Amino acid sequence: MLQIFPDQSAIAEHVSNILIDKIQSKPDVVLGLATGGTMEPIYERFVIKVRRQGVDVSKLTSFNLDEYVGLAPDHPKSYAAYMRKHLFGQLGFDESRLHLPNGLAPDLEQHSKDYALRLRQTGGVELQLLGVGSNGHIGFNEPGTPFDSQCHVVRLSEDTRRDNSRFFEGNAIVPAHAVTLGMADIMQAREILLVATGEAKARIVAHWYHNEVTEAVPFTILKRHRRARILLDEAAASLLPDQARKTLAAMPA
Ligand code: GLP
Repeated sequence: MLQIFPDQSAIAEHVSNILIDKIQSKPDVVLGLATGGTMEPIYERFVIKVRRQGVDVSKLTSFNLDEYVGLAPDHPKSYAAYMRKHLFGQLGFDESRLHLPNGLAPDLEQHSKDYALRLRQTGGVELQLLGVGSNGHIGFNEPGTPFDSQCHVVRLSEDTRRDNSRFFEGNAIVPAHAVTLGMADIMQAREILLVATGEAKARIVAHWYHNEVTEAVPFTILKRHRRARILLDEAAASLLPDQARKTLAAMPA
């Protein structure tokens, strides 16, 4: 379930190949998409390969995990803008099939319910991409989020707001709230690929490795998923025990 790759570009290559295989074998596949710095090299690689191989992405459906409350889709720091920049604006997608929560919905509770319902109505996610926060959050499900939670509005922790402030240069303030798919929604995906790269993730990855499943560290829930894989680069794996690192790095991708 854990795999170690030499660096983030090896992960990007691996994940892009998996995505392309899925799309080629099922053009109307439903993908669960994530944002964050971790995903940038993956989308960059994916775009290059799709163009080169002439893969048709127009029939796939996607659901993003989360969005900041209060940011319009055309706000440069919204996740909608992130997705347009790194992926949606780069290839021939059918926009009507690309879904993100709307951080400006007038009734966010109702919008969250509708978003989760829409996801279920499409048949659910075939392959979910995930990153992880340095405090173990997935999507924007912060430590302590109940495992049975569905799409909901969250108050972001100070840790998360501090981590994400690097994307909000100048005096821009990281929003205090977000809409996120819940833990139960994420676990419904048939297959999950969680990617963690860089030294900043080494502590939480080691925590995952040594600890039982607990709501205090949301991403430990993946230990309960039958088809979840955690892809690490050497830096994110650096605090794992030596023996585990050697064994995992030797495993074929
Ligand atoms: C954000 C996103 C998560 C993402 C995480 C890690 O808070 N909501 O979906 O996985 O941060 O981000 P990064 O990849 O930038 O470290």
